[in-house]
Amino acid sequence: MLIRIDHIGIAVDDLDAAIALYEQQFGMALVHREIAEGPGLELVLLGIGESHVELLAPVRDDAMISGYLAEHGPGLHHVAYVTRDIEAEMARLADEGMRLIDTEPRTGVRGSRIAFLEPDGTGHVLTELVQPAPDV
Ligand code: CO
Repeated sequence: MLIRIDHIGIAVDDLDAAIALYEQQFGMALVHREIAEGPGLELVLLGIGESHVELLAPVRDDAMISGYLAEHGPGLHHVAYVTRDIEAEMARLADEGMRLIDTEPRTGVRGSRIAFLEPDGTGHVLTELVQPAPDV
């Protein structure tokens, strides 16, 4: 089952400006920052209650969201829900007839395990499942 919103993913092209907005205007604390070499992203988490805003900025031209930014510009990118057992949730959703982009969980921000659903089955909302790392 899905427990709560883990994070809202926001694609940005100016990471420093986005961090300033969320820290200074919205008053959120920057709680995590990492470079994800695989997708070519710098990821920043800002805390809001038990959830986070996840800023995604490309660190190279062929980054995972470069095409998205070129087509849509900065803005809302995806919503992520917490599950305690990502394999079970992926299997349950597949049984519900939903198509998954990821057939196996992959590594997400802060050592989490994540999988994305095909947006054509979710009202064109890119949807991520997140099983947080045990120590988070
Ligand atoms: Co995400």
